[in-house]
Amino acid sequence: ESYFGKGAPLAGLRALVTSGPTYEAIDPVRFIGNRSSGKQGHAIATALARAGAAVTLVCGPVALPDPAGVKVVRIESAREMLAACESALPADIAVFAAAVADWRVAQEAPQKIKKPAEGGAAPTLSFAENPDILASIAGLKQGRPALVIGFAAETEKVAEHAAAKRARKGCDWILANDVSAGTGTFGGDANTIHLVTENGTEDWPRLTKQQVAERLAARIGDHFGKKTT
Ligand code: CTP
Ligand code: CA
Repeated sequence: ESYFGKGAPLAGLRALVTSGPTYEAIDPVRFIGNRSSGKQGHAIATALARAGAAVTLVCGPVALPDPAGVKVVRIESAREMLAACESALPADIAVFAAAVADWRVAQEAPQKIKKPAEGGAAPTLSFAENPDILASIAGLKQGRPALVIGFAAETEKVAEHAAAKRARKGCDWILANDVSAGTGTFGGDANTIHLVTENGTEDWPRLTKQQVAERLAARIGDHFGKKTT
């Protein structure tokens, strides 16, 4: 099929994707992170690139190879992720699949924190709220991507909580991921998704992360196809 044919429904569109965890430094050798594997975000970047989009992937520390045909920007902290996302604009499509730490350590120690002498008190950490990358890009007055998509991992009332999150964050679509016991979870290879849009909720069957990515890319292609024809 030709580059502009069915095989490249997203040709001419630019996409920004976030993936993986963020690491928030405690001191030069320690951090607070999470168990995000990056599998879903990387699969989405791959699927969008295969559909013809020009993709920038902003990702935290992951053990995955860089997807073929994608510009990869590696960062560690949430604040670095926000700055890299802003630098990657303009984009037509933005998909926020990263597991961004909600908080960072308020005061990163400039030197390694030393163990106190025997009997000394354990250190305490205090936290500061991180920027919400999805909400901040979705709320841009100028240069907002036309289609802003977020994720929501929920364990109960999945569609209801996701619809509230969609409104709160100002994004267009939410991929609500049912992470209740027995469904897709961090590190696994499958997800159970409910797609929440302005028109309501679509329940997807349990799919591999690659299938979720391909279905999302096709759904995005339909969306832009409808708007331009
Ligand atoms: N997200 C983000 N920046 C943050 C926190 C979250 O961009 N600082 C994005 C995630 O990538 C995801 C969406 O927001 O696409 C929802 O993340 P989630 O953690 O489910 O939402 P929160 O608002 O942090 O709510 P909570 O953790 O309390 O459920
Ligand atoms: Ca969160």
